[in-house]
Amino acid sequence: MNAMLASPTRKRLQTALEHASGDKRFKILEVHMKKHQFRHDALIEVLHKAQELSGYLEDDLLLFISHKLKLPPSRVYGVATFYHFFTLKPQGEHTCVVCMGTACYVKGADKVIAAVQEHTKIKPGETTSDNKVSLLTARCIGACGIAPAVVYDGTVTPRATPASAVEQLKKWTAK
Ligand code: FES
Repeated sequence: MNAMLASPTRKRLQTALEHASGDKRFKILEVHMKKHQFRHDALIEVLHKAQELSGYLEDDLLLFISHKLKLPPSRVYGVATFYHFFTLKPQGEHTCVVCMGTACYVKGADKVIAAVQEHTKIKPGETTSDNKVSLLTARCIGACGIAPAVVYDGTVTPRATPASAVEQLKKWTAK
């Protein structure tokens, strides 16, 4: 979220909410906020969950949180930029978030992440030296029915395999 988005137009908010309606990560986040009864003091906890789901805090997530918690976007943006553990941009050009929650783990997420690490030579939380790919992990992105799930640049992908993950990485690095 840039400074302009700290006070978004109605249209910008609408765009974020439309994005939210078709994206599983937002639904999971909403469940999480509900668990906290949409309390304002749960903001940091909610931001943590949002970052875990996406790897970083994209604009639409911040707008969605501000809308659901009924907090001014400037406040949400302010908190997200204040704490060093929040990231507003993925470090790499591409982001690969491998879900390591129980359902994904038992369906082979450990093999998927091993293949990604082997191919990229980086560990979770790191970015390749050419800045192409950032690798992250999540605990459960709420897509257990399609486990193991991997989120490539914000798109939840079902039934990942080591081969499909490497194929995706090759597409990114070939560009
Ligand atoms: S454990 Fe991976 S989506 Fe739930």
